[in-house]
Amino acid sequence: MSNFKCCECGKTASLQTLNYTCECGGLYDLDFKAPKFSLDLIDKNEFSLFRYRKFFPIQNEIWREVTLGEGMSATVKFDDKLYFKLDYAMPTLSFKDRGAVMLIWLCKSIGVKKVLQDSSGNAGNSVAAYCARAGIECEIFVPKGTSEKKINMIKAFGATATVFDGTRDETADACRKKALEERIYYANHVYNPLFYQGTKTYVYEIFEQLGRVPDNFFLPVGNGTLLIGCELALTELFEAGLIQKLPKIFIVQSENCAPFFKAKDKPLNVIPKPTQAEGIAIGKPMRGKEILASTYQGEREVITIPENAIIPTRQDLAKKGFYVEHTTAAIYAAYEQYIKTNRLQGDSIISLCGAGLKSEH
Ligand SMILES: Cc1ncc(COP(=O)(O)O)c(C=O)c1O
Ligand SMILES: [Zn+2]
Repeated sequence: MSNFKCCECGKTASLQTLNYTCECGGLYDLDFKAPKFSLDLIDKNEFSLFRYRKFFPIQNEIWREVTLGEGMSATVKFDDKLYFKLDYAMPTLSFKDRGAVMLIWLCKSIGVKKVLQDSSGNAGNSVAAYCARAGIECEIFVPKGTSEKKINMIKAFGATATVFDGTRDETADACRKKALEERIYYANHVYNPLFYQGTKTYVYEIFEQLGRVPDNFFLPVGNGTLLIGCELALTELFEAGLIQKLPKIFIVQSENCAPFFKAKDKPLNVIPKPTQAEGIAIGKPMRGKEILASTYQGEREVITIPENAIIPTRQDLAKKGFYVEHTTAAIYAAYEQYIKTNRLQGDSIISLCGAGLKSEH
């Protein structure tokens, strides 16, 4: 197994550490470089994202006790210029399963018996499901006001849902405090870099399915867990000589909460206003500085979603057979607005990242 490496001071730590940050306060990256990407290294007889396991930082067979058959989502040609990647067709109905399975695989591999996580949404559902599969005790902190639907899903997996009387940020603080004080593993999708080793399979699949990658990637960005994984994998494909040009990445944010919009070296201080795109309503992205300092060599542009287009767009997509949650509809709304006023080179792909059944209305 490889090591964690602090993104501030460079100090390394074993993957078994119970400290979720470096002593200096910096977040951990992974000290790991995947082997040169090649279609020949894919296990074509495995129909989950573990077909790519040669490119993962953990090499053991324990994944077989953790997988729920995530990944391998369809890439559907929606029109001449646009593909949809159907990541809502995952075991817990969102792309978060790609990362959660990796994280819980690590936990199972190092003998973790209990994890803590905080989430008001899909990541919490996902971690709870994989813990159920792996036989690991799980407690998810959710802020007061979290929908009954999500709380019930967490409980159905046998996890404890601890409803905290505070904001999303205060809930996360309380969860981390408990993790530190009681020495419980903090299985968090933003802190733990194993998560990005899972989200990178989004790109591997597209490349395997199309034999190339589209020219533009439209990605939802709150904390940026899909973005970081995509940049990793696209760079791997580029370095392996399998793609000649890195796609342009569109970082899609809510117009009511856009800390990356016009940001330079650190995210802007924003006061988030309510948005239907709740999955990306993150005012203080934990890896904000890292995302802005990314070494991705392709073009990037931050665009925002017109709030009033989200609900009509969600209805339009449903009329075409794609029943997605508001955050997902928002990405398509941003794409539609962009192509109305800009010339977009080549074709594009959008992650249909969350299912309609997850939304409350
Ligand atoms: C459906 C959906 N899309 C996008 C996101 C944004 O992910 P991230 O915060 O990692 O950028 C989330 C996060 O919860 C989500 O649930
Ligand atoms: Zn450090």
